[in-house]
Amino acid sequence: MKGPGFLGAALTAALLATATTPACADDAPTPEAGRKAYTSFCARCHGLNLVLSGGGAFDLRRFPADDKARFLHSVNKGLRAMPAWEGIAKPAQIEAIWRYLGSVNGWPPEVVAGAVEGADKAAGSSQAQ
Ligand code: HEC
Repeated sequence: MKGPGFLGAALTAALLATATTPACADDAPTPEAGRKAYTSFCARCHGLNLVLSGGGAFDLRRFPADDKARFLHSVNKGLRAMPAWEGIAKPAQIEAIWRYLGSVNGWPPEVVAGAVEGADKAAGSSQAQ
């Protein structure tokens, strides 16, 4: 299964490793990090701009912004013709790809930040200290 995507991922990893940013910044789930991970892992099936002309894989511009749980499940576990990404893409990369989708699709910031997971509701009164 070593195709061009594998090489792309290796190149991206090498580029990230030599970046002059602090170590933790490599794992920061920013839309820009998501774009890189998406280009390495996802673009060959989903297209550089979230869709391939002429059909093919799911049009990611149409993914529902309010269903991050479905995104995480489908991406981690795979769905029919799509392989599972768990153990290949790091969790921070998958999070970054979610934010990248949000930035391309123009989702509201609170959706992109993952507030839709219900973390606020689960925490009840959200007094952090
Ligand atoms: C080998 C080709 C391939 C690659 C690579 C790939 N996908 Fe997919 N993906 C598919 C196909 C095919 C489907 C449609 C699955 C179906 O509904 O039968 C899909 C569907 C999806 C869906 C919709 C799932 C749902 O719940 O309907 C999401 C989200 C998605 N892919 C994200 C990603 C992300 C993120 C990556 C990169 C980490 C990725 N895909 C890489 C082929 C691929």
